[in-house]
Amino acid sequence: MTDGMSFRGGVRDTENALVDPPAAFVEQANVTARGVDREWPECWARAADYLDWMTPYERVLDATDGYDWFAGGELNASYNCIDRHVEAGRKSQTALRWEGRLGETRTYTYHDLSREVNALAAALRDRGVEADDVVTLYMPMVPELPIAMLACARIGAVHSVVFAGYSADALATRLADTGSAVLFACDGYYRRGTAYDLKRKADNACLDVPQSVDRIVVDRLDDDRPHGDNYTDYAAFVADYWGETVAPVARAANDPLFEIQTSGTTGEPTLIRHTTGGYLAQVAWTTHAVLDLEPGDTYWCTADIGWITGHSYTVYGPLALGATTVLYEGTSDYPERDHLWEVIERNGVEVFYTAPTVIRAFAKWGSDHVDRHDLSSLRLLGTVGEPTDEATWEWYYEHVGRESCAVVDTWWQTETGGVLLSTLPGVDGMRPEAVGPPLPGVSVDIVDARGNSVDTGDSGSLVLTRPFPGMGVDVGESTGNAPEAWRYRTGDAATVDADGYVHLLGREDDALDLDGRRLWTHEIEAAIVGVEGVAEAAVVGVDAGGVTPYAYVSLQRGTGPASAIRERVRDAVARDVGAFATPATVVFTPDLPKTRSGKVMRRHLRQIATGEGVSDTSVLRNPEIVGELESVTDVSE
Ligand code: WT7
Repeated sequence: MTDGMSFRGGVRDTENALVDPPAAFVEQANVTARGVDREWPECWARAADYLDWMTPYERVLDATDGYDWFAGGELNASYNCIDRHVEAGRKSQTALRWEGRLGETRTYTYHDLSREVNALAAALRDRGVEADDVVTLYMPMVPELPIAMLACARIGAVHSVVFAGYSADALATRLADTGSAVLFACDGYYRRGTAYDLKRKADNACLDVPQSVDRIVVDRLDDDRPHGDNYTDYAAFVADYWGETVAPVARAANDPLFEIQTSGTTGEPTLIRHTTGGYLAQVAWTTHAVLDLEPGDTYWCTADIGWITGHSYTVYGPLALGATTVLYEGTSDYPERDHLWEVIERNGVEVFYTAPTVIRAFAKWGSDHVDRHDLSSLRLLGTVGEPTDEATWEWYYEHVGRESCAVVDTWWQTETGGVLLSTLPGVDGMRPEAVGPPLPGVSVDIVDARGNSVDTGDSGSLVLTRPFPGMGVDVGESTGNAPEAWRYRTGDAATVDADGYVHLLGREDDALDLDGRRLWTHEIEAAIVGVEGVAEAAVVGVDAGGVTPYAYVSLQRGTGPASAIRERVRDAVARDVGAFATPATVVFTPDLPKTRSGKVMRRHLRQIATGEGVSDTSVLRNPEIVGELESVTDVSE
C-alpha cells in the first residue's frame, strides 16, 4: 500500500477505502448488526445481560447522585468469572493457561480455578480481610495474581494491583494512598533470563508507610533463601484451606471492585476506582462484541495484568465469558524473536490482542519470523494503546492475520474501564489508522479550544458526552444534574471522518504549533512510518524562537544508509502533511523511550531535544536509551 496517502495538510479524508472483514469471520461473528433497540441509557441493559445478578437491578442508570449504573442490582465478580461456568458444565475446560519464563507451563481448569480462589478467599477471610478492605497485589505475571484478584472479589475486598516493575517508592505511595494493610508479593521474577528481587522492594516500601502491612509471598524463584519473619509463604497461607468454599459476597453494582493507577504517560498518575457492576458489564459485553470471544475460545492479550488492559482483557472479560485466557510471563522477544508466534501456535490462540508498539517491534525484524509459523487458528486481531499507522496495520493484517482475520483497533483508557471506540468486527468495514465509530451507547464530540464542536474532518479534543457503565468513579464533570450535562475530556486529539470513524492523532499535550497551525504528533509520524525501512517514529516540537519539529526514527533491520532515509523522511512529510511540517532534525535511534506499558514518552524526547535534560526516567522501561540519545551529536541535516 502507499505510504501515508490519507493525510492532507492535517485534515483526514476518507480516500482510504474500507476493508471488508473476511466473509468467513462475519459468518460466525457474535454481533452482526449495529442496531441498538433502546434509547440511551437503557441500551446499556444489553451489557448487564452478560452477567448473572444475585439481585436484579431496578434502574439501568440512577443519576440522582453521581452515576449509579444498574442501581439496586447485586452481583459477585468471582461468581461471574468462575462458578457460573462450573455450574454450566465447563468445569474441565481450561480457564488459565500459564507459560512461565523458564519454559514451564501450568494449566488451570475452571474447576482448578474455583479450588484455588475458594481456598485463598477462605484464608484471607480468616486473616481478617473484610469487604471493602484494600488488598495490594505486587506481582508479576504468575497465575497467583489473577487468583488473588478473584479471591478478593469473592469476599468483596478491593484489589489494588501494582505493576511489578514499579519501584519501592511507587509501591509505598500506593500503599499509603489506599491505606492497604495486606500485601501479596513474589520473592522475585524472571525477565530476559535474569532473576529480579521483588521482595526487597516490597520490604523497603513497607518501611515507608504508616500502617503495618501483613505480607504474603509467592515463591517464584524457587531458590533456598528464607522469606524472613515478616512474611507468610503463600503455599503455607492456603495450606489449611484446600476444599473449603466461600460463598460469593453480594456486592452492590456500584461497590468498588478494584483500584488502579493511570499509567502516567502525561502528568502525574492518579488512582481510578472501578465499580463491580458497571465495569464488569462493560468489559464482558465488549469482550463479546468487539473481541468476538466465545466461551471455550483460546485467547491471548499480551498486556501485563498490572495495567488496565490486563485487568479488563486478560482477567475479567475472558473469564466472565468462559474462555481460556493465556498468561505469558516473559517479554515476547526473549529468548527467540518468534516467541510470540510460538505461543499463538502452541496454544491455538483464536483471538489475539496487543499494542501497536509490539507489532512494530516484530515487524522491525522482518517477516520470516512470523511467516514460518502456522497461525491459522487466529480469527480476530486487536490493537490498543497508541494509534496504529497504516504500515503497521497492513503488516499485522497480512503477516499475522494472513488476510483472513478481522482486525479491530480499540480506543479506551484506564478511566473508561473498557473499550468505547471500535468497529464491530462482524458489522463494520475496517479502515487502517482509524479506530472506528463509537460503540452503540457511546457518544463523542470533537471540540476546539473554546469547547465548540468542530466541522467533520477537522481536528480537536476528543470529548465523551454521555456516561457509560465502565466509567471510573468520579470520571468526568457535570455542569448540571441531568446526565446530558456530563462531559469527559479525554486529553486526546482526534478527527471524525465522513463515515463517522474516529482517528486518534495523539495526546493534546504533545501538540505542535507550526506556522500558525496546530498539528498532532501522529499526523507527522504517520507520514514517516510510511517510508520503507522505517520501523517507528516520534515527533516533538522544539521551541527555538518558533517551533520546529524534531523526528526520532528507528529503522528496520537491514535498512540501507540512514542519510538516504533522512531525505525520504523529509519528502514524505512535505508531501503528506506540508513543507511547513518538514522535520528540521532527524535523529536515528535503535529505540524510542517508552513507558513500561509501551507508550512513547514524547515529553522525554522534547527534553532531550532542547538539552534541558531528562530528570526522572523511572516510568521508562528502557531508561538507557535516554543517555544514548543525549550523547548523540550527529543530529545534522
Ligand atoms: C491512552 C490511554 C486503553 C488501555 C491501554 C492504555 C491512547 C489507547 C488507543 C488507540 C490511539 C490509543 C490514548 C488514550 N490510546 N488506545 N486504539 N488508538 N490511541 O490505557 O494507559 O490509560 O492510556 O492511550 O492516548 O488516552 P491508558
